[in-house]
Amino acid sequence: MSRIIVVTSGKGGVGKSSVSVNLAMALADHQLKVCLIDGDFGLKNLDVMMGLENRVVYDLNDVVEGRCDIRQVLVKDKRMHTLHLLPACKSLSFDQLDTKIMESLIHHLEKEYDFIIIDSPAGVEQGFNYATSIAHEAIVVVNLDLASLRDSDRVVGLLMKKGIHQISMVINKMNQDDIESGKSLMVSDAIDILSLPVLGIVYDHHDMIEANNKGMPVYLKKDHLLHKCFHHIALRVLGHKVDYVQCKKRGWFSRIILGIE
Ligand SMILES: Nc1ncnc2c1ncn2[C@@H]1O[C@H](COP(=O)(O)OP(=O)(O)O)[C@@H](O)[C@H]1O
Ligand SMILES: [Mg+2]
Repeated sequence: MSRIIVVTSGKGGVGKSSVSVNLAMALADHQLKVCLIDGDFGLKNLDVMMGLENRVVYDLNDVVEGRCDIRQVLVKDKRMHTLHLLPACKSLSFDQLDTKIMESLIHHLEKEYDFIIIDSPAGVEQGFNYATSIAHEAIVVVNLDLASLRDSDRVVGLLMKKGIHQISMVINKMNQDDIESGKSLMVSDAIDILSLPVLGIVYDHHDMIEANNKGMPVYLKKDHLLHKCFHHIALRVLGHKVDYVQCKKRGWFSRIILGIE
């Protein structure tokens, strides 16, 4: 039985897709079979972020219309052999797809994969409803600003209403200088507002943007700080107890992270 995890957020641009791709890579690096679903129908961006856009031949609409079967839609990653991408559908959103097709899709994926990671679209309608109806767990991606945290709080309420109670958060784009200067909120503020366990911290780093643009996920840079961040997030998903990745001296870190160590 696979673990089905939806990656969601209150607003767009916080890093859901970046977290989905790199977490999927980090899990696949443990030789686990991972299917990453691009739920952001219309934008079609995960294939580009993974450098797989030239390998996308079919989408779910082709399954619906009988041009191919489910296996042909899945695109194998070039570097992680146990990772497949289910690309976004050009013309349809999740909830427009025939329920029977979706049921057989999920049934097939559950037999084949250890993890199904769904990059949910921004907002809380349509695709969000579908993604949350099939997921067992949720990761809420937040930034340390009030708007992101307040919107996320609303999403947490909706997830609970949908019966998803295993919810954790990833704090993305954390900027230590901004925290020190008081421009950014602190991790402890996010914990106060959302009361969620912190699955991990991902630092704000321009290499993430470059990696996404080049189709070479930052996880693949083995010595990079962000590689380590996602490695630790994957370990926590797998139930290990590991430290939060830090890049400044311990005293500073403990002060900032107060409450989660
Ligand atoms: N940790 C990070 N540091 C710097 N930039 C980031 C980070 N995470 C994401 N980004 C950038 O922020 C933008 C939005 O990220 P994306 O993953 O597309 O967000 P979402 O899927 O939530 O809309 C992209 O340009 C991405 O490269
Ligand atoms: Mg996205």
